[in-house]
Amino acid sequence: MKAVNVGLLGIGNVGGGAYQILGMNAEKIEKAVGAKVNVTKILARDKNKKREGICPEMITDDPDEIINDPEIDIVVEVLGGVEPAATFMLSAMKAGKHVVTANKAAVAARYDELMKTAKENNVEFRFEASVGGAIPVLNAITTVLKGNEITEIMGIVNGTTNYILTKMTDLGLPYEDVLKEAQELGFAEADPTADVEGHDVANKLCILMALAFDKFVAPEDIPTKGISQITAADIEEAKAAGEKIKLIAHAKLEDGNLTYSVAPKRLPNTHPLAGVSNEFNAIYVTGNAAGELMFYGRGAGPLPTGSAVVGDIMEIAKLVK
Ligand code: NDP
Ligand code: HSE
Repeated sequence: MKAVNVGLLGIGNVGGGAYQILGMNAEKIEKAVGAKVNVTKILARDKNKKREGICPEMITDDPDEIINDPEIDIVVEVLGGVEPAATFMLSAMKAGKHVVTANKAAVAARYDELMKTAKENNVEFRFEASVGGAIPVLNAITTVLKGNEITEIMGIVNGTTNYILTKMTDLGLPYEDVLKEAQELGFAEADPTADVEGHDVANKLCILMALAFDKFVAPEDIPTKGISQITAADIEEAKAAGEKIKLIAHAKLEDGNLTYSVAPKRLPNTHPLAGVSNEFNAIYVTGNAAGELMFYGRGAGPLPTGSAVVGDIMEIAKLVK
């Protein structure tokens, strides 16, 4: 039986989490896939950095050593940013590799090109981890809910900002301190501006809308407001009114007209989304047959996100073994 070989582009929070899961659950994964899944090479910026549990010989700073390695079946892109990540993914597809990514910025920015290139090269392209961390919402929308017309998507899809708002609300902690904590916990983007200004949520809403409504709306065309201007006074005012401030992604299809936005909203404490705390995410999906569904779980962090990456790797590994 052939082993399935994986090349990792990136070994930070998410790459490290996925690598850890492939090791700690190796036996279970092999049994489910019907073959061993081995990480054989890893791309990093600094190949001399000491990385616990990782054999230094596996690390390279040359992407071609992974993209053009004939032994590698699946390339996992977890670098972050649009470039060079998108170019690496497109090159990998053209070299006949299946691609998995957690990179919503790259998927949203180059959606059509990535989907088209995967199709043209007859390779799988999966990106479950790009929205909602561990939550399998993309999988649900593209498989078991496919027989529905989706009419609405609404939710909290950024762990960093939800963590910040929760700690500011529940503990009265200052914004800057909590942002630092979210960075230390591996929730935030390399440049957290994308989190706090709502751009990360716009990227995720773009992906959700493309899959749920079959309509691509560029992230820059989604009216977007983040949480950087929310003050302790705003939070106290909401609290006094029995409300919580949450950063909400919303898309609604009505009479064939799709409306969408990303903005902080005051929700009554009784609203289910008001009870979603810390780095947790929750996404309501409404289908014309299924009715309202709520997907809930950890939206950021190495192991939760790694879980979704590993799920995608396994689905592909079953096909290529
Ligand atoms: P990190 O910054 O922790 O890790 C990035 C990794 O990529 C590092 O190993 C870094 O190398 C390597 N890298 C970055 N740029 C290059 C380059 N140009 N050439 C070679 N290596 C490079 O990021 P995360 O793991 O947090 O995020 C990765 C992706 O996953 C992002 O797209 C992010 O949006 C997405 N994501 C993150 C989540 C999270 O909770 N953190 C959740 C869901 C998605 P080195 O180690 O040498 O610096
Ligand atoms: N920075 C992102 C967040 C990572 O905090 O939600 C998960 O996509």
